[in-house]
Amino acid sequence: MQPETTAIKIDAPTTNDAAQIWQLVRETVVLDANSAYLYLLLCRDFSGSCLVARQDGRVVGFVTGYRLPRDSSVLFIWQIGVDSGLKRQGVGLRLLRELIERNAKSLTAIEATISPSNTASRRLFEALAREIGVPMVEAPDCGFNEEDFPAGDHEAEPRIRIGAINHKLKFRESANKKAHLTAQSVSSKRISRKD
Ligand SMILES: CC(C)(COP(=O)(O)OP(=O)(O)OC[C@H]1O[C@@H](n2cnc3c(N)ncnc32)[C@H](O)[C@@H]1OP(=O)(O)O)[C@@H](O)C(=O)NCCC(=O)NCCS
Repeated sequence: MQPETTAIKIDAPTTNDAAQIWQLVRETVVLDANSAYLYLLLCRDFSGSCLVARQDGRVVGFVTGYRLPRDSSVLFIWQIGVDSGLKRQGVGLRLLRELIERNAKSLTAIEATISPSNTASRRLFEALAREIGVPMVEAPDCGFNEEDFPAGDHEAEPRIRIGAINHKLKFRESANKKAHLTAQSVSSKRISRKD
């Protein structure tokens, strides 16, 4: 008999999650390892634009982001990571969908940067754009070049934009439903904006 998979719950983070997010970032290897203090700040001061996925109380995924100070209708997604044992099971896409759903009010676009070698990241954001039903475009002059980082330290981080998102935003039925993980999923929900 197969062991039952415990449902994954998505929640806004609290400062109690910061150390586990920091640890998960380190375990992904590809993500920039920032200080633990930074994740404490994010969990406390930016919890409205960050989420964690918990399984049995353990953080198994997270996404961090913020509204652009110069245009608060744009949600910048900074880092997203999923426990290596749970990849390709819909957790990453679910985190993004839920984040957008919670931030839907006045949202016009989503932005992120994607290093050229990070195929998983690119495919994930492409899947998100497909689900929303809007294009994902490159924003050529808005990313970061290799020279912007300390020498030899980092790939370029070209910026992408997903939009325009308008008041009719709703997710398409997900082609990515993973039944055993999404018992409490938002996968068939529609985003409806009240503004
Ligand atoms: C990127 C990452 C968050 C994706 O999370 P995930 O939970 O595995 O993604 P999902 O299962 O929700 O995938 C949704 C869709 O994205 C695409 N995708 C995700 N990972 C992919 C991969 N490795 N290769 C190709 N496509 C991929 C697929 O279209 C997938 O749908 P499918 O499985 O039905 O084909 C995860 O691979 C990760 O933690 N990587 C390390 C950290 C990182 O690179 N983060 C992104 C930069 S901030």
